Amino acid sequence: MTDADTAWRALSAAADAAATRAIAGLFDAEPGRAQRLTLEAAGLVLDLSKQPWSRADVALMLDLARASGVEAAREALFAGGIVNRSEGRPALHMALRAPDGADFRAGGVPVSPEVEATRARMRAFAEAVRSGARAGATGKPFRAIVHIGIGGSDLGPRLIWEALRPLQPQIDLRFVANVDPAELAQALTGLDPAQTLVVTVSKTFTTQETLTNAEAARAWLRAALGEAADAHLVAVSAAPDRARAFGAPQDQVFAFWDWVGGRYSLWSAVGLSCAVALGWEAFSGLLAGAAAMDDHFRAAPLDASLPTLLALAHVFNRNGLGRPIRAVVPYAQRLRLLPAFLQQLEMESNGKRVTADGRPVPHATAAAVFGDAGTNGQHAFFQLLHQGTDVIPVDIVAVREAREGDPAAQRKLLANAVAQAEALMVGRAMPEDTQRHFPGNRPSSFLLLDRLTPEALGALIALYEHKTFVEGVLWGINSFDQWGVELGKTLAARVLADLEGAAANPHDPSTQALIARLKA
Ligand code: F6P
Repeated sequence: MTDADTAWRALSAAADAAATRAIAGLFDAEPGRAQRLTLEAAGLVLDLSKQPWSRADVALMLDLARASGVEAAREALFAGGIVNRSEGRPALHMALRAPDGADFRAGGVPVSPEVEATRARMRAFAEAVRSGARAGATGKPFRAIVHIGIGGSDLGPRLIWEALRPLQPQIDLRFVANVDPAELAQALTGLDPAQTLVVTVSKTFTTQETLTNAEAARAWLRAALGEAADAHLVAVSAAPDRARAFGAPQDQVFAFWDWVGGRYSLWSAVGLSCAVALGWEAFSGLLAGAAAMDDHFRAAPLDASLPTLLALAHVFNRNGLGRPIRAVVPYAQRLRLLPAFLQQLEMESNGKRVTADGRPVPHATAAAVFGDAGTNGQHAFFQLLHQGTDVIPVDIVAVREAREGDPAAQRKLLANAVAQAEALMVGRAMPEDTQRHFPGNRPSSFLLLDRLTPEALGALIALYEHKTFVEGVLWGINSFDQWGVELGKTLAARVLADLEGAAANPHDPSTQALIARLKA
């Protein structure tokens, strides 16, 4: 039996004890618990004291991390080793946010010079668009960007824009992901093609949804501006030849690399629309915040590492206590897209059933993630969190100081965040009135940002990236591929051929009946 097997067994025994123990009781049993389980790094505060683990359980989880090789895996990640084995690639998103002068290498080959060169082009482009030096085909300055992309080419930039956008932006930024034509139609409504840039983002430049939307947006530009419309096309891709063939002028094609996973790509030129619409200072602040979290993750011992301890708390719930769902509730309207971003980050990265070397994973892997902004979620799904039959751990994210608005309202928001964590853990015993009884003992993590700055947002996103990586190491899976999304794409192409009458492919009877109904 390996050390990791021993640690997994110990986890299961420890979790049996945790299942019947009151979290609130641990504070008396373990003086200094709140302080000991509150960590700080890169401007973030993380309180893990309302998790169901005892001091001994935390030690045991750290043993599991060590025995699973987290330290060596972390080293390999930063060294640009082939951590994405099924695609034979490193995963070097940290190189994208490292300051100039860094020396990241992908499989031994230096990548930092190329990263810096692209970053310099992004900056020059962003500044030229903002100053009006780079204007549209008719000479008018750009006032809007339509960012077209899906999955990793959409969720990160959308989150950043929503979190950091000025109340009255100089350049409006709109997003289109869905192939549902409604989304593009809404995004284009009210825009003047002569003052709009269309930024198409696709790592592969083959994604059906993105190409469909990009072609429609190009047609919209060309209908108004003729051939000159192509000066309004920007393309971001790891396949720049395809981007050029689409029509974007050479100096408006921005490359990134196959060692950047889609859901880890917002730090690359995938974030270009945000760099333009927010300005370079904000975008570089975002990179700096993420780099600070990288430095912390790389250097901190495991028992002081925020990403590691957050991962261990989640694994304690997922594997020890068998909890398959986690809620994420940002008490900040500007962070309302965080749950959607984390759904891709965590579920696409770690929704795997075989190990990196192809054997069945002997443990449960990624929890399903859902959530919405607080306090809105309190009036929707919190009933189930407090009194449902399943225990659903919650990540609460709060921001101390509001960027705008009434400080009194902000205090109410914070009071709700803190009170919900308390209510979940402490509950309210009402044996005489079962309807009003709150069982409590429901775990939460509490993440606090001082202010929603670009730096804090960068650190927050990087925290979750590395947390996801650590979980993948514990489970022995490859967090950087996503083969599970392929079958649906292939079948969608076949069904489309059937719907268009170009083919009559065989399908199961249910599918056949649906196709027949849609064609009728
Ligand atoms: O949903 C699958 C996926 O491959 C994601 O991993 C990726 O972020 C998204 O599609 C978009 O891919 P692309 O950037 O190549 O258009």
